[in-house]
Amino acid sequence: KIESTLRPQLLEDYIGQTKAKENLKVYIEAAKQRKESLDHVLFYGPPGLGKTTLAGIIANEMSVNMKVTSGPAIEKPGEMAAILNNLQEGDVLFVDEIHRLNRQVEELLYPAMEDYAIDIVIGKGAAAKSIRLDLPRFTLVGATTRAGMLTPPLRDRFGVVNRLEFYTVEELREIITRSAEVFQVEIDEDGAYELARRSRGTPRLANRLLKRVRDFAQVKYNGQINKEVADFALDLLEVDKLGLDNMDREILFTMIEKFHGGPVGIETVAATLGEDTGTIEEVYEPYLVQNGLILRTPRGRMVSDLAYKHFGLGKESS
Ligand code: ADE
Repeated sequence: KIESTLRPQLLEDYIGQTKAKENLKVYIEAAKQRKESLDHVLFYGPPGLGKTTLAGIIANEMSVNMKVTSGPAIEKPGEMAAILNNLQEGDVLFVDEIHRLNRQVEELLYPAMEDYAIDIVIGKGAAAKSIRLDLPRFTLVGATTRAGMLTPPLRDRFGVVNRLEFYTVEELREIITRSAEVFQVEIDEDGAYELARRSRGTPRLANRLLKRVRDFAQVKYNGQINKEVADFALDLLEVDKLGLDNMDREILFTMIEKFHGGPVGIETVAATLGEDTGTIEEVYEPYLVQNGLILRTPRGRMVSDLAYKHFGLGKESS
């Protein structure tokens, strides 16, 4: 219940992602005027920035239902065919982690997206024949952390492609203030700003941290969130002044201590940490790059002077 009110239901209540929002507003309006289904939409960008929320808003604004699935959840073309066949006219099918669909399932999507039809093979060997099954018109909303991981034929079938950006501190402050109302906890402006600064540009994290800070406010303070409570709780949660967590720090310290601050390949850093390269590249690195803590160079990643300064470290000469 709370989760559903935490997520805005209308485009006008959605904070941030101005560019994506303004584009979608036009496309939704135009499709509604023509009484057509909305063209297929792809969202890409780091996790927690609102891809699922926007898919829900699209369905809501178009007054249709949304079915939710994900790339790894669908193993066989038949499963995807069943999902598609059960859609109602105009419905939104949200496929999270769409880059993880296997090839057969992905290929089934090509005619589904293009012609609202799928080809099903019936029978085996010489008796096998292919029949075309018409589908209701629908809108595929795909989400992925990196558009570069989609095959070109799939990517090209999305009429609308939106990159989601990290949120500004001001936008996060607004989201946190709104969420605090949903959670029924009082928060002052300085408290909201402190939480916003430490939320890694990510609403999902902002809402999670808000819940934890609320717990501290309730148990250790008088129930209200101000800067003092936020600082106390976030320090305990080991989220630093820039919103970096332990993994962020481990990545930067590994680069500094083991590789003289770089340049070093991301695979090497990942292997040293025993982490998955994709996770580092898609989940952790974007925020570090965005904030100028890691520099991407043709020879590999480098720790910036800003990062050394952030940790109060001097740069060794080597
Ligand atoms: N909650 C999570 N993300 C949000 C957003 N972008 N706008 C408003 N509320 C949100």
